[in-house]
Amino acid sequence: MNIKKENLFDKYGGVSTIKKILKKFYEELLSRMWAKKKFIDVDMDKLLLHQIQFISFAMGKPESEFDDERLRKGHAGLAITEEQYEETIGILVRVLTDFKVKFEDIKLIGDTIETKKHLIVNIPPIKEIDKKKEKEKERREREKYNKWKIID
Ligand code: HEM
Repeated sequence: MNIKKENLFDKYGGVSTIKKILKKFYEELLSRMWAKKKFIDVDMDKLLLHQIQFISFAMGKPESEFDDERLRKGHAGLAITEEQYEETIGILVRVLTDFKVKFEDIKLIGDTIETKKHLIVNIPPIKEIDKKKEKEKERREREKYNKWKIID
């Protein structure tokens, strides 16, 4: 189902607004012990960059995409429950409302995130084998890229 995404990204001020929204969102989310535990050892600066990319995509930033595989890998093994997912969405909706995002626009963003729920809730840990496969795939891609760079 292809959701027609209005360009809410520009409408609400792009990255600078998204940064403020995410700062408030993580303040709220990490005030919950069940959530805080899941972010131990996570590089929050790197995560924030990835989250800006994801929310920009969910707000219909033109030409933006977000790879499903990244979402799945990011949540693999975190055992995120349906309730935790809904509570997190609840926090996002409240923060967006505080930032004066219109209800119908919040609904559009929510609809896009909902299409990714199966990549967030109850994602099994990435097995060792998968990890080895992943590493090998990355090595091959790097090799291909280096070869390409030499030709260029
Ligand atoms: C509700 C909808 C949610 C969305 C849209 C979402 C989105 C994302 C995105 C875009 C990333 C970055 C993936 C990457 O590295 O490229 C991420 C990572 C992460 N998410 Fe979520 N998430 C959601 C719910 C949750 C919940 C409920 C938790 C648990 C508290 C959670 C915990 C994490 C953690 C710990 C990472 C970092 C993984 C790492 O870098 O090791 N997420 N999430």
